[in-house]
Amino acid sequence: MFSLQLTETHEMIRQTAREFAHAEIAPTAVERDKTGEFPAEIVRKLGELGFLGMMVSPEWGGSGLDCISYVIAMEEISKVDASVGVIMSVNNSLVCWAIETYGTEEQKERYLRRLAQGEIIGAFCLSEPEAGSDATSQHTTATRDGDEWIINGTKNWITNGTTASVYLVFAQTNRELRHRGITCFLVEKGTPGFTQGAKEDKLGIRSSDTCSLGFDNVRVPDSNRLGEVGQGFKIAMETLNGGRIGIAAQALGIAAASLDAALTYAQQRHAFGRPIAELQAIQFKLADMATKLDAARLLTYRAAWLKDQHQRYVKEAAQAKLFASRVAVENALDAIQVHGGYGYVREYLVERYLRDAKITEIYEGTSEIQHIVIARELLKEYALV
Ligand code: CAA
Repeated sequence: MFSLQLTETHEMIRQTAREFAHAEIAPTAVERDKTGEFPAEIVRKLGELGFLGMMVSPEWGGSGLDCISYVIAMEEISKVDASVGVIMSVNNSLVCWAIETYGTEEQKERYLRRLAQGEIIGAFCLSEPEAGSDATSQHTTATRDGDEWIINGTKNWITNGTTASVYLVFAQTNRELRHRGITCFLVEKGTPGFTQGAKEDKLGIRSSDTCSLGFDNVRVPDSNRLGEVGQGFKIAMETLNGGRIGIAAQALGIAAASLDAALTYAQQRHAFGRPIAELQAIQFKLADMATKLDAARLLTYRAAWLKDQHQRYVKEAAQAKLFASRVAVENALDAIQVHGGYGYVREYLVERYLRDAKITEIYEGTSEIQHIVIARELLKEYALV
């Protein structure tokens, strides 16, 4: 049963995130979209605010907040700049969560505290040139050599790729066991043999940095193994379940920004002797945009709430991401349509919303993968045997 009561703390988080986004992120968002510059100073301030380790326990330098708080903050930050949203999301849900859940005390002391406070940021390295959706087909290998592991391979599309200091790297340690032979390692920037490719020139979320990574006989001590040998794929999947809630929240931000822009423009722009907001064709669009946004938000809150209740949320997280990312794209398209020709040029923000929205249907599991996850969970729930 889903029963959510937002608290004063949740409202306070919303207010803080909103004010921070407007004061600190908005002034440079348009320029960074053009130049692709990484928002280093903003990320530093997000860390000071406690937004880079929102769900991490205060014992490890985090804010100790629930997943609903995280979703609320992610929506507000992404509403102003989805590039900042994904940097925040990867650090919180893919890196901090995995280390807090599977790490040793020593790993948490060494990495989690600094990650949670934004002194350093992290990256999650699962995708490869030939293993995107088919994540069990890892080609990267890790071979044991005494107390060390030697990693070889290539990772692709890594968010925070050039700016991170610590990387969660998934590698095959026993190919015969297929996904049960995958192990996760913590690799530090600067380790010999570890190289970063050029920053990708992307359609959207342009000021987040994405690159490929090379591993040429990279040696890491066994103490940098995250979790058990062979547990890596489980860690990746469990971590991505939570990550998908973060991306759903990022999508909510883009969908909400699109609605706001359409509502404003429709009341300012006149056609046929009156504001276009008085035309039913436009009103229907606005109504659909708002209704889909609310539905997406409810799905996302439900997934976050289940996670907070320590209940299974695999299906619900996938549903939230599937639907919210679709709504982000549709609302951005509708916002452009409401703006007419003005929506197609950079003078207005809505064209960026569309470019930023598209990736939410691709990363952390494409929409096609979300369908698979949802269907498999449904068939488990309603199995006839
Ligand atoms: N939660 C927990 N466990 C899961 C899971 C989930 N959502 N999905 C699969 N598993 C488990 C299965 O139970 C199975 O475990 P056992 O064998 O121990 O029972 C194991 O994983 C393998 O699953 P399947 O046999 O079903 O394997 P498959 O190949 O048929 O399907 C998949 C696996 C669901 C398609 C998986 O590969 C997948 O999720 N792919 C998408 C990968 C992805 O999301 N990549 C995103 C990259 S990261 C990123 O984008 C970050 C960024 O920088 C922004």
